[in-house]
Formats: sequence, structure tokens, C-alpha cells
Amino acid sequence: MKEQPNGHRAHGFSSVSFLDSDEIIKELALNGDEVFMDAGCGDGHNAIKVLEDYNHRGCVYAVDIYDASIEDMETYKKENNVENLINIEADITEGIPGVEDDSIDVILMVNVFHGFKASRKLDEAVEELKRIVKSDGKIAIMDYKAWDVPNGPPTKVRSSPADLEKLFNNHGLKMTYLNEEIGEDIPEGKSHYLIMFEKE
Ligand SMILES: C[S@@+](CC[C@H](N)C(=O)[O-])C[C@H]1O[C@@H](n2cnc3c(N)ncnc32)[C@H](O)[C@@H]1O
Repeated sequence: MKEQPNGHRAHGFSSVSFLDSDEIIKELALNGDEVFMDAGCGDGHNAIKVLEDYNHRGCVYAVDIYDASIEDMETYKKENNVENLINIEADITEGIPGVEDDSIDVILMVNVFHGFKASRKLDEAVEELKRIVKSDGKIAIMDYKAWDVPNGPPTKVRSSPADLEKLFNNHGLKMTYLNEEIGEDIPEGKSHYLIMFEKE
């Protein structure tokens, strides 16, 4: 467990110190009224940014498997009286309780997806994302490029955009957007890609 700059506890490595949240959120072109989900929110900095800096009026879900992260998001919600924030402790691969089918406009996952490859739960994760996203909603995944570089997860758990496209296609989801010039500047280029999927 690590305490992050916003004082919240996170299980994994928060991206707050090395990825630019604004760069990521702007990619989503939010209008402020969407039902938005930060899936695998960790310290919740992306959800909090959407709420505070983008004045999001729609419902914002913050979901994480780690109980302490969700406890801290609940404290944040109460201390700041944020009525449109819903925090859920859940394993995405097992299903997110309380979230109805076809109910989310935009799902964002930053540095989370590679964990499903590590746990061999890729199909379960995609099925749950597909279940909850609206028919015209989008699933945005930002993750490390599948390069053998020192920072980030082991190469064997990284996926390329083409790997993800194949996986999502198998579940009836189509790729609608790909940005491979995003993230941190590393000697090899930009560290990440951001890929979006929608229902076919
Ligand atoms: C590397 S952290 C990234 C956190 C945050 N998205 C960020 O960019 O700082 C990965 C997060 O995914 C969460 N996570 C991993 N597997 C999960 C699962 N199966 N269901 C829900 N959350 C999960 C971890 O608890 C952790 O908070």
C-alpha cells in the first residue's frame, strides 16, 4: 500500500506523478453530462479531476478492487459533499455490483488493463465492460506500449493496440480511436497508447 499525493491509498502505482490527467481527459471530449466511470481508480485522481476541474454534472463512478482506495474516495465524497460520485469496491472481472447493463457513457481505465492479462482474466474484464457500457458509449483504455523498457509492468503482461483490437473484436466491440503518441516521454518515444472501443 502506498499513500499518494492526494493522501489516498492505492494498491498499484498511481499515474498521478508521471501521466498528465488533462492530456488523458481531453481525449474523452466529455460534455459534462455523461455517466463516467474511472475503472481501477486507485487514488482516484482522474475521477476527482473530472469532478473538480471539468465540473462534471453527470454521475461519476470510481471503482477499485482495493478497499482502502474506496474508503478514501468515500471520505473525499463526504468531506466535499460530492453528490454525483459513487464509489464501488469491486473486482471488475467478477462484475461490478449495482451498475446496470448499458448504463455508462464513458469508461476510463488508466494503467489497469495489463493487470487482467497478468491474472488471465482478459475475457472476463471485457465482458463486464461490454455489459455496463451504453450502446453509444465508449471504453477508453490507456496502457503501456508493449515495449521491453525498464519502467512499467513486465513486457509479458503488456498488450499492443492490435492485441486489444483482436480481443475486443472477439467480444463484439469495435475500435473507434487510437492515439499512440500519449503519455510520458521516454527515450523510445511516448510511453503509452490510448485506445477506444464501442459496441458494434
Ligand atoms: C496501476 S494502478 C492505476 C490506478 C489509476 N488508474 C491511476 O492511473 O493512477 C491499478 C489499479 O487497478 C486496480 N485493480 C487491479 N485489478 C483490478 C480489478 N480486477 N478490479 C478492479 N480494480 C482493479 C488496483 O487496485 C489499482 O488501484
